[in-house]
Amino acid sequence: MTRITGAAMVAGIVGHPVAQSLSPVLHSAWIAAAGLNAAYVPLAPALDGFAALIKGLRGGVIRGVNVTIPFKLEALVVADEIGERAGMAGASNLLLFSEDGSIFADNTDGLGMLAALRLQAPGFDPAAGPAVILGAGGAARGAAAALVLAGAPEVRIFNRTLDRAEALTRDVDGPLRVVDVADALRDANVVINATSQGMGGGGGPDIDLDAAPDTAVVMDMVYKPLRTAFLERAALRGLRTVDGLEMLIQQAVPSFEAFYGVAPPAEVDVRALALETVGETA
Ligand code: ATR
Repeated sequence: MTRITGAAMVAGIVGHPVAQSLSPVLHSAWIAAAGLNAAYVPLAPALDGFAALIKGLRGGVIRGVNVTIPFKLEALVVADEIGERAGMAGASNLLLFSEDGSIFADNTDGLGMLAALRLQAPGFDPAAGPAVILGAGGAARGAAAALVLAGAPEVRIFNRTLDRAEALTRDVDGPLRVVDVADALRDANVVINATSQGMGGGGGPDIDLDAAPDTAVVMDMVYKPLRTAFLERAALRGLRTVDGLEMLIQQAVPSFEAFYGVAPPAEVDVRALALETVGETA
């Protein structure tokens, strides 16, 4: 057991609620394996208490925080400097505090998505063809920004509410296009579920994967259940699949490096730990 002393490096996660977050499980396991004098703590301010908490923590009190629902937009407002990834996504999941009191807003959700794609679909190249994003909420925005930055030649947005899809294509700068269900999947390089459909079970997005080419990769950001109905349908169709848990783990990797200055030890099976925590088997 690593000893936490008064000199420990401290970081955490801010959300409301935060009890369901897997981030403390991942970061604490990495801290222990790396033998760091460090801690990673969950913080749940009142809904109107985010800015006050962040102001109190900055200036070297702690190293920084991950930010989750519902504060990812407000995280940009409290920041003094906004990184390119966070600016394009219109949201931040990582605030870093400098000793001079300044706050830098970053976004590692998109990096996590791309890393998960590369890991579970080896050889995947975001620049190789059109990306299709199902959904137009915060998660879809982050995905769209990351894919544009990674060189996707076209990013197609398909959403139940057309207005929101159009707003997304206006707000995120790049080769974005609103599509309808009929032509969404033609020539698709990757299809990503960024809606909340399928969370906790259920059928997932209502889109016929037969229209996708055999080479398409299908990803679901939902990770509970791990094998969503959407991924099961993709696998039955013979398509390569990427799950949301890997994205969650991979967004934590650059956060850990930013907080503690070292890479997470590769030998820890954080995936198994996370599955155990949410009561699933691989
Ligand atoms: P997040 O920040 O996690 O993306 P959000 O902003 O609430 O969450 O967005 C949820 C996304 O899931 C939206 O794209 C939403 O579609 P609408 O914009 O039409 O609301 C989509 N979504 C949720 N439930 C859905 C359902 N039953 N059918 C189709 N889309 C759904």
